[in-house]
Amino acid sequence: MPEHLDRERFRVYELGHPAIDSEHYALLRKTGYARFVAHKGDVKVLSRVMSEIQVDMAKHFYHEEQLMLKSSFPYMDWHVTVHKAILKELAKVMDHFVLPKNKFIAERDLVIALEKAVLNHIDEMDRQFVMFLMSNVKTV
Ligand SMILES: [Fe+2]
Ligand SMILES: [Fe+2]
Repeated sequence: MPEHLDRERFRVYELGHPAIDSEHYALLRKTGYARFVAHKGDVKVLSRVMSEIQVDMAKHFYHEEQLMLKSSFPYMDWHVTVHKAILKELAKVMDHFVLPKNKFIAERDLVIALEKAVLNHIDEMDRQFVMFLMSNVKTV
């Protein structure tokens, strides 16, 4: 994932649902920025950006889950469990940032690990859901 994800490079993660795609794009732009800030070692800005990501991610997951409910997505329970696990992981990463130590490389690694988990989730589970959603488009 490039530091600054442009729309062209994002295409591989586009799932065909404009609202979900645009939320994913916004989230990945922010995680890319968080990685850049972590690399520079600005822990104050990093904490702020990660807080924004936390809010945006929770909103995005809620949005997806509402669409799952409306469309009676059969794998919703497992998908929601994974959303919760990602949010828990994000909270753990943020806990690490408040430690009064200069662990900027470790912080960058944590952001990278989180970003990979999000990309993997988009590419597999969200893709599965959007394919289901698009094939049941009349019900949503
Ligand atoms: Fe998603
Ligand atoms: Fe999801």
